[in-house]
Amino acid sequence: MSNKTFYITTPIYYPSGNPHIGHCYTTVACDSIARYKRMQGYDVMFLTGTDEHGQKIEEKAAEKGVTPKQYVDEIVEIFKKLWSYMNISYDRYIRTTDDYHVEAVQKIFKALYDKGYIYKGEYKGKYCTPCESFWTESQLDENGCCPECHREVKESREEAYFFKMSPFADKIEKLLLETDYLRPKTRAVELVNNFIKPGLEDLCVSRTTFKWGIPVTFDDKHVVYVWIDALSNYISALGYENGQYDDYEKFWPADVHMVAKDIMRFHAIIWPAMLMALEQPLPKHLAVHGWITFNGQKMSKSLGNVVDPLILGERYSPDAIRYHIMREMALGADSSFSNKIMIDRINSDLANDLGNLVSRTVAMVIKYFDGTLPAERESDPLDEELISMSKSLRDGVDKFVDETQLNNALAEIFKVISRANKYIDETAPWVLAKDEAKKTRLATVLYNLLESIRISTTLLSCFMPSTMPKVWEQIGADESLISYENAGKFGVLPANVTVKKGDVLFPRLDIEKETEELNAIILKNAPKETQDTDKANLVPLGDTIKIEDFGKVDLRVAEVKSCEKVPKAKKLLCLQLDDGFGTRQVVSGIAQWYSPDDLIGKKIIVVANLAPAKLCGVESNGMIVAADVDDAARVIFVDKDIPNGAKLR
Ligand code: MSP
Repeated sequence: MSNKTFYITTPIYYPSGNPHIGHCYTTVACDSIARYKRMQGYDVMFLTGTDEHGQKIEEKAAEKGVTPKQYVDEIVEIFKKLWSYMNISYDRYIRTTDDYHVEAVQKIFKALYDKGYIYKGEYKGKYCTPCESFWTESQLDENGCCPECHREVKESREEAYFFKMSPFADKIEKLLLETDYLRPKTRAVELVNNFIKPGLEDLCVSRTTFKWGIPVTFDDKHVVYVWIDALSNYISALGYENGQYDDYEKFWPADVHMVAKDIMRFHAIIWPAMLMALEQPLPKHLAVHGWITFNGQKMSKSLGNVVDPLILGERYSPDAIRYHIMREMALGADSSFSNKIMIDRINSDLANDLGNLVSRTVAMVIKYFDGTLPAERESDPLDEELISMSKSLRDGVDKFVDETQLNNALAEIFKVISRANKYIDETAPWVLAKDEAKKTRLATVLYNLLESIRISTTLLSCFMPSTMPKVWEQIGADESLISYENAGKFGVLPANVTVKKGDVLFPRLDIEKETEELNAIILKNAPKETQDTDKANLVPLGDTIKIEDFGKVDLRVAEVKSCEKVPKAKKLLCLQLDDGFGTRQVVSGIAQWYSPDDLIGKKIIVVANLAPAKLCGVESNGMIVAADVDDAARVIFVDKDIPNGAKLR
């Protein structure tokens, strides 16, 4: 085995419900990187697992009338089944209920206590049960709710142990701002401004109000509170402070921890602080991705929009799902999951671009040469671009994989696939085939196509591991020729290669039919209250914004003093409003639903700071607020006693 090592981790997931497509993203992304690194010759450790303690699990188990361990055992099996179905090649699966992890956490807690970084105190604060987090008043959101999940928090007070964070503030600020630990780096400033500059607060690290946790060895009233337990998994799984494994020296520090943005703070601030306190090296990179939302809405059980990856995988193949989620998500940004976009992408990229390239090329070798190419070659300047793009593809993909930008890595590969399709059109093999004197040229064209397919599918196999071997069988690439080294070379297939017709790789999907069927499945699986079609037809909620963003919109109450149709513009009414400051002219596209008489004398809401615009040549200073109901606009009227000019907030 090589002495180059590579250690990559997913977060450990809460087994509080079944895994969904959001959990799949991180796991599939880490799996693809792990496969890529293995292909490059690294000795890889890919870790995933489950975070099994905490109040939420204790409560859920009690609801079901089982022990917490029985409860998590069942869900952990579902996670493992999904990972095996999605071809996740993890090397180790950690459960925080494993004895060796419990032992390590107890030792870590004690070590931090002995070093004076953990002390006993009393916690008074706002507690969010679903997030299992205490928050200070200043951290709550604008509604006084949890800043992470925006649900209600309860005033709580309890004896607790605390982890001193302040000694590490400067070092962590440097880590975030001056190194490339955090990816994307753009998030560093936000973290420093929100959490470090106001003064790093000590972290509550034990609880006494529930039992389902790792007991503190020297004070058994307390269990270790979630983050010290959870974060330690990355080192306990290697054998740190336990006898189960002996891989710490070999694999620590981790090369990449990949997490979604909601747990960035814990990994960017608390985890480095813990490691600094333990005097251990820090991980090399923290790659933070956004959320997969569903048609713009946060995925949530209660909204009934949680996408079951098993259902999708069974319909379209695990590889198609893997490809879609990785191609959609840019590092750092959210990505909106939509069945329609997924099906479109499967059709365009996988069925058309890749699938057709393979099937057309193989079919032509069979048709024109009975499946075996002659060994002679005749090149042409037309070949150069395809060959040079294929040869340099590996370097381009390397770079994006190293930067954890998997959507860009895939885009690079598909550039070569598209170039190869274009090459077919440029070289027109069917024309060459008509002329016996051009047979050598024809064989060269087909060989170049087979080579570009071999190179791109070798690199793609890390992302879509089960389909690519089928391609290699078709293009006559013996598995011994499939390697990272060969992915950097052109001309590896034998000159007289023999191809074999195979099944269609990705059948073309009927978008209408598929989206209809998927919507029906989602509706059927949704909780009762979301099954009524009124709710199903609602425009999805938009991304959340900050209170400051809302504050930028100046909404005012105004009275309609006069109103008339705009000549030659069927849809427009021109209104003169009293907005409390004077007269304001607004043009609104509501003439199909309102006549001037319906509006004169009424009070409405106007977006008062909208930049002026001309509609059909008439100046408009603002916009009337209306609701979208069954494709019609319904103006929002306001009580008469609210004064003109009153600001909405
Ligand atoms: N147990 C903690 C992690 C501890 S790591 C030391 C946890 N678990 S979780 O199951 O709630 O979430 C695990 C990961 O899945 C997080 O990175 C979370 O953001 C991610 N996702 C959960 N839903 C997601 C989406 N809809 N989209 C993308 N990632 C999502 O947090």
